[in-house]
Amino acid sequence: MKSRLFLGLGLSLAAFNIGIASAETVWLDDLNLKPATQGWGEPQKNQSVGEHPLTIGGKVFERGFGTHAESTLRVNLGGGAQKFTASVGVDDEVDKNPASSVEFIVLGDGKTLWSSGVMRAGNAAKECAVDLSGVTNLVLKVGDAGDGMEWDHADWADAKFETASAKSFAVSGEAALAPVAPYILTPPAPATPRINGANVFGVRPGSPFLFTIPATGERPMEFSLEQTVVRLVVITNHHQVSIRGPFAGILDLNTTNGQITGDIHTKGEYIVTLRAKNALGTAEKKFRIVCGDQIALTPPMGWNSWNCFAGEVSQERVKSAADALIKSGLINHGWTYINVDDYWQNNHDSKDPTLQGPFRDAQGNIVPNSRFPDMKGLADYIHNLGLKAGLYSSPGPWTCGNCTGSFDRERQDAAKYAQWGFDYLKYDWCSYTPTMEAQRGISTNYPLAAASWSGSNPSSHAELIKPYAIMHEALAAQPRDIVYSLCQYGMGDVWGWGDQVGGNCWRTTGDITDTWKSMSGIGFKQDKAAPFAKPGNWNDPDMLIVGQLGWGNLHPTRLTVDEQYTHISLWCLLSAPLLIGCDMTKFDDFTLSLLDNDEVLALDQDALGKEATCVLTDGDLKVYAKELADGSRALGFFNLGTVSLDLKFKPLAQFGFTGTQHVRDLWRQQDLPDVDAATGTLPLTIPAHGVLLYKLTAK
Ligand code: GLA
Repeated sequence: MKSRLFLGLGLSLAAFNIGIASAETVWLDDLNLKPATQGWGEPQKNQSVGEHPLTIGGKVFERGFGTHAESTLRVNLGGGAQKFTASVGVDDEVDKNPASSVEFIVLGDGKTLWSSGVMRAGNAAKECAVDLSGVTNLVLKVGDAGDGMEWDHADWADAKFETASAKSFAVSGEAALAPVAPYILTPPAPATPRINGANVFGVRPGSPFLFTIPATGERPMEFSLEQTVVRLVVITNHHQVSIRGPFAGILDLNTTNGQITGDIHTKGEYIVTLRAKNALGTAEKKFRIVCGDQIALTPPMGWNSWNCFAGEVSQERVKSAADALIKSGLINHGWTYINVDDYWQNNHDSKDPTLQGPFRDAQGNIVPNSRFPDMKGLADYIHNLGLKAGLYSSPGPWTCGNCTGSFDRERQDAAKYAQWGFDYLKYDWCSYTPTMEAQRGISTNYPLAAASWSGSNPSSHAELIKPYAIMHEALAAQPRDIVYSLCQYGMGDVWGWGDQVGGNCWRTTGDITDTWKSMSGIGFKQDKAAPFAKPGNWNDPDMLIVGQLGWGNLHPTRLTVDEQYTHISLWCLLSAPLLIGCDMTKFDDFTLSLLDNDEVLALDQDALGKEATCVLTDGDLKVYAKELADGSRALGFFNLGTVSLDLKFKPLAQFGFTGTQHVRDLWRQQDLPDVDAATGTLPLTIPAHGVLLYKLTAK
């Protein structure tokens, strides 16, 4: 028997001592794999990242390391290892997903010793055999093969070392950045009134209107609204103040809390002036109400329960989140939606009694689980606060968490959501397969056992589109506006057709997690979808990962302070839906300061709706540019490297700027000296994994 000792060395280092004298096999999975860094999920011993038996090209392996691109595992061999061998490939659990493509790379002391080339779902395993003579530091990497890391489930199967003598293998992941204490850049909002948020709001004719004027400044505050074009009846505090032109609808403004309710019957654009007044002054802003076919004219902003509570969500927790959005003041910066993700329904295999119960009633209506005793009461509660409510389902019979889905009950479910008063639906692909369409309308003993629903992933566009189009029709038939958020991880380049099925936003990626690998692996790979973003249609790189997160097991985000600035800056540049993922009852000042910077949020909420793209990559520097409605442009300068960058950047003319440019630092909300686009330099000191975010306006 060998004697084995596992030692934990600090946070991300562990050692494996082998007291042996002759040639031995050391299995990779016998090392502590936890320190490995990867783009999604957790490093797995002897199973895939999705926690299935390791399977490549139909062949099952008993041992190995299951990971997800981008993945790094460093092994300090101490110089004594002779050989490394493994069978590598994409795990079959991705079900031939065309987005899966990876490259396995073995580096020894900084040199590439072996690379698999691009491997895809379904490919047979490749045999990796590397001579390690003289190698001290071995790095096992899995790259995303250049197309983003969606569905990149990667297996180092049967991975093992041959060693000659006693040694100690020390295992680590990507080098950790030196910790930086939180520093707040966002200045406090002034005590004088300021109206924040988008300049435009879309509503469909006859739909219940709810918009809360987001305004900062000392309370009490008095709100007023004035029409500058004809045709709206506006009532403030239940006293009618103006009637001009033909009747188009009635809006009722609560002058104390700024909530505007009512409805508009006639399509058209209504320009109004919003006013907020307190003891220190008055602010006003022109605001465009567009009554037409399109909603979500700017990306939705709010909160979603998944990244913090996952399967532990409850009605009380959702109400507390809504309260926290008010108490934190975030409502005054435009944050609106309170969205319940998975697990509000009953579950087909949970041992938790609060998730057990009927899936549907005798009439086929979906039955919420016992943690959600009053869905209508919940939506009313959220609306009374001036916020909006969101819900989650799947086109298959089951959601991703094995709760009741909407297959063959789409109309009935959409009607129920509307009746309860929900304003947003996230519709997740899980458990849907095109083959089940044959059972539509005949599944009288619905829901069938989970096992009855097996099938293959879609092979055609039509198959991908079908379930989303069905729910779209169901939602469109409801007498209220329901933002439609498609969640199918970008399959079939959803950005190209999401609009056709009424999608207001669509996930472009798999699930995000709170690591640099995940956030940067997603955020910096969005260019291909960017041209499709426009008012009413947004690319969704997944929810925010700042604050206390944990998918049911709370911990502070693992992103560094500068990575968090990068995350929020990038998502705003990308015109992404902004859904806070943390437990908002546990906000700290730093996290709040990331979410209440009105000049940064204004990029996301800009009415032009153009998504930023990468205009320059130079070593570790990436520059993103976003066109804005007022003719100015935002530039994000990102440092993807692990040491601070200190540049004198010139000239701005390379990005098409001309003349003198006024430069505004958006995080600090400060003007910088003007820069001549042809000759001037922009000083850039960008922290490791950090960002500088500027707005440039021609003078
Ligand atoms: C998928 C989605 C997540 C979340 C879960 C719920 O993984 O991508 O955002 O909604 O399902 O089960």
